[in-house]
Amino acid sequence: MPKNPRRRSKKPRLTARNADPHVLYQESVQDAETEAAFLSRVFKKLSGRPAESLREDFCGTALLCAEWLKKKDRTAVGIDLDPDVLAWGTKHNLSPIGEPGNRLTLRRQDVRDRCPGRFDVTVALNFSYFVFRTRDDLRRYFASVRRSMAKDGLFFVDAYGGYDSFCPMREPRKLKGFTYVWDQNKIDPISNGVVNYIHFEFPDGSKLNRAFTYEWRLWTLPEIRELLAEAGFSRTTVWWEDGDEEGEGTGVFRQRDRVGQEAAWVAYVVAER
Ligand SMILES: C[S@@+](CC[C@H](N)C(=O)[O-])C[C@H]1O[C@@H](n2cnc3c(N)ncnc32)[C@H](O)[C@@H]1O
Repeated sequence: MPKNPRRRSKKPRLTARNADPHVLYQESVQDAETEAAFLSRVFKKLSGRPAESLREDFCGTALLCAEWLKKKDRTAVGIDLDPDVLAWGTKHNLSPIGEPGNRLTLRRQDVRDRCPGRFDVTVALNFSYFVFRTRDDLRRYFASVRRSMAKDGLFFVDAYGGYDSFCPMREPRKLKGFTYVWDQNKIDPISNGVVNYIHFEFPDGSKLNRAFTYEWRLWTLPEIRELLAEAGFSRTTVWWEDGDEEGEGTGVFRQRDRVGQEAAWVAYVVAER
């Protein structure tokens, strides 16, 4: 028996050598519990019944699928092109809860390819669909999602913007044991093409530079809504984050028709089939 069990169980300090980028990513930019609660609340409000099935496009480590399945009777399909990230998600997020199995399927495929089934809730989050950089590509993706939705299904995408989103900048945020850095590295106003990086920095001075790279088109809310309409969706609504007295986001999103511009915002667009 160790002399001092509390000491033995202490985690080693994070450094670039021992850190797992997927763990750091999940801790920095994902809040699956809040997100799953939001999807459930909006689905109940708009469709009048509890949501059961989820299709998570660009699922990466399938953290949201794992959270979704915490309620029994729910099912989920996660889709991603990258076999390594799916394998990581299976080992760290899904095997511990006994999945993939009866209630979850992971599909290694392009999100634009046919996905069997009809889903209550489909999501493309953390701006992943910004990889489609032309109107035709994005419209085609939206149309393929619509084909696999339940009649009263909803499609959720998020978007970011505000005047800071058009400026190259590095935004560090201190988290437990490391610093997450969002780096808006390049922005081309002619195409709205952007190159963003996520870096991680550690207390010992070591760094994981460019742990993740995103080459996207920075789509605006009106463009996204117009393309959803062109893809056949019947109605779209924008869900905007409430601010506190200092103007900081509260994590509560409400449907809004008009808002004032802000330096930086994240919003959801919800599309009804
Ligand atoms: C930013 S991660 C998203 C992770 C997670 N869903 C989230 O919300 O943070 C983007 C993922 O999209 C995947 N991806 C990119 N293009 C894709 C495509 N055309 N079809 C399927 N997956 C794709 C990548 O492999 C990567 O795992």
